Amino acid sequence: MSAQIIDGKAFSNQLVEKISEQVATLKHAHHFTPGLAVVLVGEDPASQVYVRNKAERTKTCGMRSIEHRLPADTSQDALLALIEQMNIDDQIDGILVQLPLPSQIDDKAVIQAIAPQKDVDGFHVVNAGLLATGQQALVPCTPYGCLMLLQDHFGDLSGLSAVVLGRSNIVGKPMAQLLLNANATVTIAHSRTKDLEDVCRHADILIAAVGRPEMVTGDWIKKGAVVIDVGINRVPAPERGEGKYRLTGDVHFDSASEIASAITPVPGGVGPMTIACLLRNTLVAATRRRNIAIDNI
Ligand code: GUN
Repeated sequence: MSAQIIDGKAFSNQLVEKISEQVATLKHAHHFTPGLAVVLVGEDPASQVYVRNKAERTKTCGMRSIEHRLPADTSQDALLALIEQMNIDDQIDGILVQLPLPSQIDDKAVIQAIAPQKDVDGFHVVNAGLLATGQQALVPCTPYGCLMLLQDHFGDLSGLSAVVLGRSNIVGKPMAQLLLNANATVTIAHSRTKDLEDVCRHADILIAAVGRPEMVTGDWIKKGAVVIDVGINRVPAPERGEGKYRLTGDVHFDSASEIASAITPVPGGVGPMTIACLLRNTLVAATRRRNIAIDNI
């Protein structure tokens, strides 16, 4: 193995440290505590873990965490009424509705009901449009975390060739916008892309966000490229015992790390950055709403 490991866990810890300091300053100088409301509908096991981690991290950095756990048969109207109430609640600065939602609820309607200035996921069309036109937006957390790791690694991304593998609204599309805003030359590749492996082999930066375990192997990667693995896939691990699982990314780590110059691991790469960026977005939302200037983090 030759690639440098990009330690998202360490980076995210530093980021949370800076956020905690800013939260303490806000409490002291402006007498308020930013609040993040997280809504979970139903009992999806993975979502329960994510929501618990989000709430814990929120409290760790000194913010208020508000949790709403609703039954799986909650109606769309009931959820929209809760969002409306949180939109006008001055104590709540950020609203996150954990996805996926049960089938009776239209997730697009729910996302559009969240006040754009409290949309800490950055999924509302207003925030997507602001990002796409290079204006100040709340930016989706996972791609923003990837961008931070890349800027920390490279400094300037100008002129680098970036391939984003995946075109979801949550990761692929905003990732491409962020890279473009940072002056990279961006290609979005996906399952219908012709000569997909060859497209990937031209990338100085390869972002894998397809949700397919270990799909990207070393022979898809340009020598010396930097690889960011967004995938978090649970795959059976019989070698660990019957019924056991392990987490793996969208990149085949062992073969990729022979070719890449740097790579994010799974777990411990992009994952911890997502929560840190959620806290950052909550801080940003809280201060923008009150017209308070803070140091850029
Ligand atoms: N489910 C999986 N990832 C996310 C995320 O980033 N935000 C929300 N709201 N739900 C998710």
